[in-house]
Amino acid sequence: MSLLRDKNVLLGVSASIAAYKSAHLVREFIKQGANVRVVMTPESLSFVTPLTLSTLSKNPVLSSLVKEEDNTIWNNHVELGRWADFMVIAPATAKTISKMASGECDNLLLTTYMSASCTVYFAPAMDLDMLKHTSNQKNIQQLIELGNIYIPVQKGELASGLFGKGRMAEPDEIVNFIKKDFLKKMPLYKKKILITAGPTFEPIDSVRFLGNHSSGKMGYALAEEVANKGASVVLISGPTHLQLSHSHIQLVQVTTSDEMFQACIQHFEHMDAAILSAAVADYKPVSFVKGKIKKTVDQLSLKLEKTKDILKHLGEIKKKQILIGFALEVENEISNAKKKIISKNLDFIVLNSLNDNGAGFKTDTNKIVIIDNDNKLHNFELKSKKEVAADIINHMIKYLNGI
Ligand code: CTP
Repeated sequence: MSLLRDKNVLLGVSASIAAYKSAHLVREFIKQGANVRVVMTPESLSFVTPLTLSTLSKNPVLSSLVKEEDNTIWNNHVELGRWADFMVIAPATAKTISKMASGECDNLLLTTYMSASCTVYFAPAMDLDMLKHTSNQKNIQQLIELGNIYIPVQKGELASGLFGKGRMAEPDEIVNFIKKDFLKKMPLYKKKILITAGPTFEPIDSVRFLGNHSSGKMGYALAEEVANKGASVVLISGPTHLQLSHSHIQLVQVTTSDEMFQACIQHFEHMDAAILSAAVADYKPVSFVKGKIKKTVDQLSLKLEKTKDILKHLGEIKKKQILIGFALEVENEISNAKKKIISKNLDFIVLNSLNDNGAGFKTDTNKIVIIDNDNKLHNFELKSKKEVAADIINHMIKYLNGI
């Protein structure tokens, strides 16, 4: 999933030959799943047609302060500025930059810029000497100091035939620049998080296994939440029917508790935090029968042995990592969960009680209590697993920030 999905992008186009690239820029934003609206300066209409940009953006393109069909009605620049999650002025000419810096607003693009309370990016396009001119450099600096974000110009052949700095960044570079900027501002930027999810299947023979009803929904919701907050995620998952769409989630599919253990060991060392939400089997058959066990006796006993406790092992080897476990309890919930914090060396534990309706396996909801390693309790209402994931991750962020 793109970071720009469902974002409202307001594109401002001013009068430079680079305006022909605006069509590609609109397409790039649309490809990312963003909603795009375009405002143009009147002079830019000579470089690219509003019809092109409205067709690509699937929205009307505005360029004058009042409606063309009725000049007693204004084009509401305030609404446009408030609608936008961010504004991009590309191309930004020396004239538009100068007016933005001085607060002059004699066209719709500039009034919209002045009304916008969101982040504003600007991608200049001009000839190399105009770019270098002290007034222009001062204006760019002024815009940066005002909190606008400068998308650097590129070096190359210019419309004048000269070669040098001044080309507007290419549309894909502009989109990537903005995505990186988004990422950098996210609370889990550069963090690496390991998550386990789903059940494990412990084979009895070639066709049968011991498993459980875990759907994996809680772990997958955690992985999506962490990735949406900028982290890279290694999701080690037992068998589930769930799909992932986020490019920052590396899915490692496993079947048995031993495979989950190995995968966790392989990745844990490089992680900032690990959240173990998988319903790992506590016991597995001592021996595996190749083929199919025949129905020859009236009673059949299966000899089971304990599986490796992955969470406990990570608690023993952890260095700087924040370690979070889950506890599914039926009785003496709080005291049992507290014991697990100590026995598994956790930073905090997420407790589900099977006595709460709507909590636990298979459901789309969960009701949790978070218990810190200093025994502080945090009670949460019954919520969707997505909302529960957000509560858990917000709590983890406090630990990562040392609060
Ligand atoms: N867990 C694990 N490896 C296991 C068993 C459990 O990593 N072999 C993890 C789970 O992912 C969960 C936590 O340990 O985060 C607690 O699991 P739970 O089944 O509630 O507790 P157990 O320690 O297995 O104890 P019990 O079943 O006796 O309550």
